[in-house]
Amino acid sequence: MEALIRMESVVKVYFIGGQEFQALRGVSLTVEPGEYVAIMGPSGSGKSTMMNILGCLDKPTSGRYWLDGVEVSTLDDDQLAVLRNQKIGFVFQSFNLLPRTSALENVELALLYAGVRQQERRRRAIEALEQVGLGDRLQHRPNELSGGQQQRVAIARALVNHPRLVLADEPTGALDSQSSEEILALFQTMNDAGHTVVMVTHEPDVAQHAKRIIRFQDGHIVQDHLNEQRRAAPAAALGGARHALD
Ligand SMILES: Nc1ncnc2c1ncn2[C@@H]1O[C@H](COP(=O)(O)OP(=O)(O)OP(=O)(O)O)[C@@H](O)[C@H]1O
Ligand SMILES: [Mg+2]
Repeated sequence: MEALIRMESVVKVYFIGGQEFQALRGVSLTVEPGEYVAIMGPSGSGKSTMMNILGCLDKPTSGRYWLDGVEVSTLDDDQLAVLRNQKIGFVFQSFNLLPRTSALENVELALLYAGVRQQERRRRAIEALEQVGLGDRLQHRPNELSGGQQQRVAIARALVNHPRLVLADEPTGALDSQSSEEILALFQTMNDAGHTVVMVTHEPDVAQHAKRIIRFQDGHIVQDHLNEQRRAAPAAALGGARHALD
């Protein structure tokens, strides 16, 4: 089976005021289809830099990166945008929804960029919002939704193109524990459905949901292990979200 993610000796250098700073110092990583990976590590250790490169939002200074067999550094910006749209769903800590736009339109937009026709966009966006339990909030704007609901809109938007890879940078960072559990239950369901998930988190409890835990420090991977104590998500916490996905 071909790896979904293959990185070899990736270095990322930032230049600030004539000073050079190495945010990633030679990172090599392979992730197979169907994995569920948590990335942990101190602030400033390079996690978001890594996610930006994994998500083709930024390019390595040196080293190589293959996404689903395609070497990303050989692509121009337009080709990268197409690859990103086809293969990757993003979930951010701050939701990143368009503010004056309904939940339905926020999700539809992802399909517009993918070139899906209007009727089909509407049908698939409604279906995705129903899957995350927001079938009764289609016309709500972000400021009319709770944080947990906004994040569920963002997850619907991430999933609506059926991406192979879901990238989440601190997806529960802005949420209370109940909403966090619901969001984590959705990630679990995504992963069960075959999506590969890579999630950055500061919280050990959140990382325990993943099958594999990678730790960053000073731009290096310092630990990479299977999560033996993977905690089955508590049935009670799953209840709400599972209903939503029925
Ligand atoms: N655009 C940029 N220009 C210059 N330096 C940057 C830039 N982005 C990040 N850095 C630096 O690179 C290092 C790694 O940043 P990164 O955002 O990857 O850390 P992180 O592990 O995600 O931290 P946190 O847990 O606080 O989100 C930091 O020292 C940061 O200051
Ligand atoms: Mg970060």
